[in-house]
Amino acid sequence: LEPSDQLVIDAGQKNFGAIMCGSCGMVYTTGSTEDELQHTQYHQSILDRIKFVGWKKERVVAQYWDGKIIQVLPDDPKYAVKKADEIRTLADEELGFKQATLSCPSKSMTYLFVSNEKTIIGCLVAEQIRQAFRVLDQPADANSSKANDIQEPLRAWCCSTKPVNAICGISRIWVFGLIRRKGIATRMVNTLRNTFIYGCQLSTEEIAFSDPTPDGKLFATKYCET
Ligand code: ACO
Ligand code: ZN
Repeated sequence: LEPSDQLVIDAGQKNFGAIMCGSCGMVYTTGSTEDELQHTQYHQSILDRIKFVGWKKERVVAQYWDGKIIQVLPDDPKYAVKKADEIRTLADEELGFKQATLSCPSKSMTYLFVSNEKTIIGCLVAEQIRQAFRVLDQPADANSSKANDIQEPLRAWCCSTKPVNAICGISRIWVFGLIRRKGIATRMVNTLRNTFIYGCQLSTEEIAFSDPTPDGKLFATKYCET
């Protein structure tokens, strides 16, 4: 690890400050053997998991200055399906999804954003759906409880009871922690809309986000209004 990879977030005592690793995103304390060991292990495992060696056959569906998007379909070669599953599991771990299976694997599509550094920094899993329920805006004070300093993430968003017709459900969307707010998710959803059905561009009304997290809801709200 190069010193330039480290961002000092607590300029405390030399060698005892909390540091965020600029490669894996873990915050740990230098000078603590236990912490440093834990970081070394996490660092290696996360970088191994997002490493992308390149495939003989890659279905590149979009290309950008900073990377490309690869689509993986259920009948693709085993190595591709396996990698897509591994990245989905990584996203599920962060999302806290316990049940690590897809509702209908044979109909799902996975989009992987691969950076120029040959790492997978984004993942989107989409499934065909028939209808969805629109998430209703929360009343302004429902989110903030004045008694509590630490806010629990709110997951149970109010949904309307009237279903709307949607075609494509985003069951998961995830971007590597250090590279958020750089338009990775936006570009994955744009690409999904252009490629989910051949020769047709889906409108934002025809896509639905399933059970969004707070991050997911903020993103979806912004994405769908633009
Ligand atoms: N807070 C506020 N606004 C946000 C946030 C956020 N955390 N994330 C996105 N937005 C809005 C912003 O307006 C942003 O534009 P700006 O950066 O110019 O202001 C716009 O959405 C576009 O954001 P992107 O850069 O395209 O989104 P990003 O690549 O950062 O990915 C994502 C967003 C996928 C939600 C990411 O934060 C993430 O992986 N979070 C953890 C996993 C997660 O919660 N995923 C959603 C689960 S719900 C589901 O899977 C159906
Ligand atoms: Zn690290």
